[in-house]
Amino acid sequence: MPDLIEALSPEPAFQIQPDPPSPFLEALLDGLSRPQKAIPCRFLYDEAGSKLFDDICRLPEYYPTRTETALLRAHAPQMARRIGAGVRFIELGAGSGGKAEFVLDAMHAQGLPPSAYVCLDISPVPLAATAEAIEQRYPGLPVTAVCGDYLGELDLPASQARDLCFFPGSTIGNFERAEARDFLAHWRERLSAGAMMLIGVDLKKDIPTLERAYDDAQGVTAQFSLNVLARANRELGANFQTARFRHRARYREDPGHIEISLVSQDAQTVAVADSLFHFAPGEAVHIENSHKYSVNEFAALSASAGFDVDAVWTDPRRWFSLHLLRARD
Ligand SMILES: C[S@@+](CC[C@H](N)C(=O)[O-])C[C@H]1O[C@@H](n2cnc3c(N)ncnc32)[C@H](O)[C@@H]1O
Repeated sequence: MPDLIEALSPEPAFQIQPDPPSPFLEALLDGLSRPQKAIPCRFLYDEAGSKLFDDICRLPEYYPTRTETALLRAHAPQMARRIGAGVRFIELGAGSGGKAEFVLDAMHAQGLPPSAYVCLDISPVPLAATAEAIEQRYPGLPVTAVCGDYLGELDLPASQARDLCFFPGSTIGNFERAEARDFLAHWRERLSAGAMMLIGVDLKKDIPTLERAYDDAQGVTAQFSLNVLARANRELGANFQTARFRHRARYREDPGHIEISLVSQDAQTVAVADSLFHFAPGEAVHIENSHKYSVNEFAALSASAGFDVDAVWTDPRRWFSLHLLRARD
């Protein structure tokens, strides 16, 4: 069962589930007990984290949002034609949204409207705002918001339509490469026959550009990372002193990913629930990777998950790509 499902269409299709036991506490205790301490990146996105992510998207150094948006603006009509009419449009990790509209507008303009829109995210506040914005923009389009983990079991509304799964923001890069393949294969099983996926994939490029995008001059990405510790203090009564940790983003060339960690600045002990965790000076807590691909690498990964590439769009600098994939029969 999902953590929470909330339908925003007039007839609620689902009941809101009671609060589950805190998956954050469990994950934090497990992650901080490991030899290489780690916190899973999905916990970066509480309400404060989602707002900080929106701020990151507006930073001059954070090229992915601008580049992906420009690709959508330029090519949405072609994308809409390739996708076709009547699909159930499912947006994964929708966050505050704003990108699906390029494709949905193009679908409507060309007489190829979708039959329904479903957005899914682990962070309820931006999710609800996105669903409401879509409902207002496209009167008559059935809209459902599903709050939950896209890796978990989710009860999607029943549908006879062909699915189009939209996964923007290079969120796929947060998975290790094998996990990304498993994620695609998992969604292929879950989607209708003949389903398509439109995925934003960040591409390999020079290292300074990559590292600046994840460690900006104003320190917003640092605040975003440190918020996961502040969240543990707020929600779990932990006693992290965030000023004693430093955000670090560095590029690892093999196979090609940004690695983000919080580095303890001195020897310290932190309490989480009934457990104490010791941090040595310079010890890193891993919080996120962001994998970068070549177009061919991502096509090969998609093929191994049962998808054929229908089309790929990239910008002139080849910094970002949108891959339209078709599930193999
Ligand atoms: C990199 S942001 C992208 C947001 C937006 N799609 C964009 O393109 O700007 C990742 C989004 O995925 C959501 N997310 C992260 N992990 C998730 C998970 N396991 N299940 C569902 N949503 C998740 C976050 O809350 C966030 O909104």
